[in-house]
Amino acid sequence: MEVARDCIIHVALSSHQLKGRGPEYLNTSRRSPPLLLVNIEQLLTLRSGHPGPRRGPELGNLEIIQDGAVLCNAGKIVAVGKTKDAVRDGWIRKNKKRLREIDCRDKVVVPGFVDSHTHPAFVAPRLVDFEKRTAGATYEQIAAAGGGIRSSVDGVRKAGKHLLEQKVLSALNSMLSEGTTTVEAKSGYGLSLESELKSLNAIRDAASKWPGTVAPTLLGAHAVPLEFEGNPKDYVELVCEQMIPQAARRKLASFVDIFCDRGAFSEEDSLRVFEAARSNGLPVRAHVSQLARTPLQHLLSFGPVSLDHLDHVDDTDISLLARSSTVATLVPGSNHFLGLGKYPPARKLIGAGVAVALATDYNPGSSPTTSMPFVLSLACTQMKMSPAEVIAAATINGAGALQLQSRKGSIEAGKDADLAIVKVKDYREIAYWMAANLCEAVIANGEFFPSPSFERF
Ligand code: NIG
Ligand code: FE
Repeated sequence: MEVARDCIIHVALSSHQLKGRGPEYLNTSRRSPPLLLVNIEQLLTLRSGHPGPRRGPELGNLEIIQDGAVLCNAGKIVAVGKTKDAVRDGWIRKNKKRLREIDCRDKVVVPGFVDSHTHPAFVAPRLVDFEKRTAGATYEQIAAAGGGIRSSVDGVRKAGKHLLEQKVLSALNSMLSEGTTTVEAKSGYGLSLESELKSLNAIRDAASKWPGTVAPTLLGAHAVPLEFEGNPKDYVELVCEQMIPQAARRKLASFVDIFCDRGAFSEEDSLRVFEAARSNGLPVRAHVSQLARTPLQHLLSFGPVSLDHLDHVDDTDISLLARSSTVATLVPGSNHFLGLGKYPPARKLIGAGVAVALATDYNPGSSPTTSMPFVLSLACTQMKMSPAEVIAAATINGAGALQLQSRKGSIEAGKDADLAIVKVKDYREIAYWMAANLCEAVIANGEFFPSPSFERF
């Protein structure tokens, strides 16, 4: 591990320059002393020769350093290597007093999780839906009977921006405490121009109070609101002609999403929304093949950054995905919570060479969890992904699903200092200990947040 003095200066400069970048990715870069993590039992770097998402056998390659060390300064990772080299390094010895040393003995350090699919802008849990499902009703039956997405709309429309912001911030904080440092956050429970923009404003304001990084997404086309019942085309026009241009102009969204599925929006609607996003300069993503197969060929011609769910994806779509740069984001928390007993074909997707990511899909209807480790556990036990593959899918491939792979998702010099310190000696335990929070501390954009139980720092 060698730390060149000019490397530190260079990193400090580029961090300063980052402050002037556009608001499309929201985060606060606060000052904290340089951090030196040492004695790391297993340091999962996920470095590789290329920045893009991992495919096929490469998905399980974590590039682990035993007895590792990491130096962070001014929000960036400056150097990565072995502890024995770090303690001998001239610059580190000279600056020892300036550094905050964090002893990670008997701990695993991973890149902060990238949760690339969440819906945090809602007010209340959907307990009636939950109870009905325990009595045997399906997600679609509940939605048709007046539950589902539409039943979360009233609460969001009536809520002030401040309440929504608090709800989003509380979800972000819960995510941080479980090792997540980058989050994609969708609107989608307002379903009117005013309430979708209010939701995006709430996401922006919550993000400004949170140390991690948030990528906001406009999901105006989540469901057809009651007042447009029978006129979905008119609602799609509202999304295309007003929501997308206004969200783009006010720089409130990094992406546009749509729920393209049986009983939601059609392929034709989705292509119209993608077209509008493109003409407003916004990249697209979509919920697809959750309830029934969504044909992907035409959607893929827009180069969506990610297509998510994919429970009913078929072989034709899998080979199209494999040849594309689109990430397939799987959200097994929703399969679990809806009690479907069926999961997306992760092994088939990975075997075909599709770039697979994992995310929580945190939302009140189908996946009320903020825990990436729980999702990793489900991916291993229910979709037969390996304990190594799930780590890459939740970090570097999640970063790919947000077009953030050059800054996030691996522990390499020059990347953002986003790390999770986990109280286990072997990384396989992260997915093994079911529904446990073993995250001892996180570093988000260079800021250190120990949990109350983190004794050595
Ligand atoms: O990703 N499928 C569409 N949207 C969410 C569910 C939203 C809700 O039920 O509130 C999902 O599962
Ligand atoms: Fe979702």
